[in-house]
Amino acid sequence: MVSPAEIQQAGVTLRGGGLVAVPTETVYGLGAHALDPDAVARVFAAKGRPSFDPLIVHTASAEAAWALVDLEPLPPAQRPLSARLAEACWPGPLTLVLPKRSSSPEIRGGGVPGIVTSGLDTVGVRVPDHPVARALIEAAGVPIAAPSANPFGGTSPTRAQHVTVPCDHVLDGGPCATGVESTVLGFDDAGQPVVLRLGGTPVEKLEALLRRPIPVARAGERVSSPGMLDRHYAPRTPLQILPRGHDLAAEVMSAHPRIGALSLQGIRAHGRAFAAEEILSPAGDLTAAAAGLFEALHRLDAADLDLIVAQTVPEEGLGRAINDRLQRAAHPAPPR
Ligand code: TXA
Ligand code: MG
Repeated sequence: MVSPAEIQQAGVTLRGGGLVAVPTETVYGLGAHALDPDAVARVFAAKGRPSFDPLIVHTASAEAAWALVDLEPLPPAQRPLSARLAEACWPGPLTLVLPKRSSSPEIRGGGVPGIVTSGLDTVGVRVPDHPVARALIEAAGVPIAAPSANPFGGTSPTRAQHVTVPCDHVLDGGPCATGVESTVLGFDDAGQPVVLRLGGTPVEKLEALLRRPIPVARAGERVSSPGMLDRHYAPRTPLQILPRGHDLAAEVMSAHPRIGALSLQGIRAHGRAFAAEEILSPAGDLTAAAAGLFEALHRLDAADLDLIVAQTVPEEGLGRAINDRLQRAAHPAPPR
């Protein structure tokens, strides 16, 4: 779908400070040269993203990621943990938030620019598991800062057709296999690992690798990872949560002429028909459900509905990331 020549051309665009929408295994990213502050500023402008929300830096290898970070500020016992996670999870949907290296021979003019990290002394790094993303990083020859390629607060793109933000080039790599963003893991003030955003790598896997329970930071507790912002991933259509195992109340059905339903295996509609229905996985497979989640939300949002009713899924594996995204998509919009 993407030719080597197109990737080379997009790499030149990136190195010259342009913006390229790039498929990754999680969602499409809006990529910019991570060491070029002007290019990164264009990403914030294109997304309407507030400057306090830091970007993830993508590299083609773990070695290239380590060149951007400095483990020294972490307690000695915690320093090997990131290498253990990277070895087991990269390339893949895991972002590690680590102390930022202030300068290195690989980075001209000092470390990752402050605009990428919103002035924090940490940087989020990840090696994506997508041939187009990795070929693009190699073609550009520089690390790529890339948020999801959606307007700030909106539903993330999992197909090239969903990319609506302005950019110089869209690489069409087809649908994203994982379908939800990377899990973001950082270290708290005591140096203990903490999940800052639920995502494509199940917390259970990280806990098994580190042989300890890992807490999930809750919104409000720390806004240090703005993926924790209450309202995010939201379609324009109002979205209401239906807890798992519950039927939709008949009153809700009668109050809204055009309801769209989103669920793992189907919602009962009291003998009436939904105006649109998305069933994420008839077999109840949470990994398959995550892969189709944002795409289903995009379709429902385009179906001219009064209300989207989304039912939560089992709170395990990728189900935790799905429920997290549904809760944030449902959070009431601030009054205008
Ligand atoms: O799967 C993904 O992570 C996708 C693809 C394109 O790689 N990217 C993505 O980026 O979801 P974005 O910008 O939509 O979300 C990045 C998340 C935000 O929640 C941000 O706050 C957090 O990562 N983050 C990045 N750097 C951080 C840092 N230094 N400290 C804390 N959180 C950070
Ligand atoms: Mg995003």
